[in-house]
Amino acid sequence: DATEWLEGYLNNFGGALIVVSHDRRFLDNVVNSIAELDNGRLTRYRGNFTAYWNIRAEKLRDAEENERRRQEEIARIEEFWRKNKAGQNRNLAWSRHKAAERLRAQSTSGPSRFQPLKASVQSRQRSGNEVVLVERLGKRFGDRMLFHDFTMLLTRGQRVGVIGPNGSGKTTFLRIVLGLEAPSEGTVRMGASVIPGYFAQEGADLETDLSVLEALLDIQDMPPAEARSFLARWQFTGDAVFKQVGQLSGGERNRLALARLALLKPNLLVLDEPTNHLDIVAREALTDMLRTYDGTLILASHDRYLLDEVTAHTLVIADGEARLYEGAYSAWKQSHERELQRAAHRQTKETATAAEKPRTSFELSRLRRQALRDVSRAEQRVQEAEDWVRRLEECLSHPEPSDDVVRLAAEYEQAQDELAQAMAEWEAAMTRAESLSVSL
Ligand SMILES: Nc1ncnc2c1ncn2[C@@H]1O[C@H](COP(=O)(O)OP(=O)(O)OP(=O)(O)O)[C@@H](O)[C@H]1O
Ligand SMILES: [Mg+2]
Repeated sequence: DATEWLEGYLNNFGGALIVVSHDRRFLDNVVNSIAELDNGRLTRYRGNFTAYWNIRAEKLRDAEENERRRQEEIARIEEFWRKNKAGQNRNLAWSRHKAAERLRAQSTSGPSRFQPLKASVQSRQRSGNEVVLVERLGKRFGDRMLFHDFTMLLTRGQRVGVIGPNGSGKTTFLRIVLGLEAPSEGTVRMGASVIPGYFAQEGADLETDLSVLEALLDIQDMPPAEARSFLARWQFTGDAVFKQVGQLSGGERNRLALARLALLKPNLLVLDEPTNHLDIVAREALTDMLRTYDGTLILASHDRYLLDEVTAHTLVIADGEARLYEGAYSAWKQSHERELQRAAHRQTKETATAAEKPRTSFELSRLRRQALRDVSRAEQRVQEAEDWVRRLEECLSHPEPSDDVVRLAAEYEQAQDELAQAMAEWEAAMTRAESLSVSL
């Protein structure tokens, strides 16, 4: 929600914008140019993230094609040199040989190939068909209810995205499912032969005084050389495997947590914000990894691209409720917005019909006067809200250096809400007036 609010705000913002982000959906929605900093070189691409990503892939293919041709040419010339260096074409062969050397020394251009993580997670064995059974589950902290009366059966191979605003209870829900936290009411049962693997938010379950290597061997013992080549697939090479877990960066910590999961081979993956701190390449690798994972998946994330790519159901935890929907994030979002509109429409209608029926002509004229007053009051409210929105739009499109744009943007949201409410009130007043046959 916060990300979408920020997108909306930035899209209305009239000034220039430079943003650093690993969130491809966010970049797609907000920017019209990408600058990539790669090997000390800054390259500009027109368009949003997807455009940049496609052009980059194309450039990379072109560069590879050029490189292939260059190598062929070198091989051809070298062959000529080998055959002729002792014969009568010796001088020509020598100059060709020099040409091949020059060709070899030429630097290849084009974007560098990102070092991808060559990693995957598969399950060790199949679980039974029923993986997690949640019945009438509820959780409260003090008098705050996170969710209650939530029932769900997760079957083998299902992929559920868990979404909701910060602090709504996503992490708490995952921990209850794994038996790390007790529910306030209801039960959770794991099915037969379920091997759960948990990726805790911010790597919170990693022991900080172990080295990277020890943290891996903690899951499964194996010869050091094997462990090191396994870690190399997760980009821990050389001395990096001796680093203390407590000293790892956020992204490194996440990679270690994923490496441990890959070794564990769980058939139920429970991931809590696995993309935090990961750069785009690592996110791509994670996306691929989850796409090809053969087990059951529960994934709490704010990364809309990842959710759309790897989940098929959406569990929304918000406002003290947990609800499971068909479809990934974007599908849920669309139907949710339609539902909100329908609810607003229904409310307008209900206010209109719930009004009392007049019994006498005296009462009728009193109600008509009242309805007229309501309409004009509502009109005034709409006008004031419109002025408020317009003033803020002006400020936001030409902000003074002294303006607090974040505060202005928050106020802009408020003003838009006020306008929406005023419009709804005006519509209700109009409907009411019409039902009393007031001439306006
Ligand atoms: N042990 C605890 N005692 C009291 N309150 C807690 C406890 N653990 C979590 N909470 C509260 O429960 C709420 C839900 O926390 P939780 O970590 O599940 O949120 P979340 O949805 O995962 O948020 P985020 O998106 O920031 O990760 C928060 O308000 C948190 O402060
Ligand atoms: Mg959380």
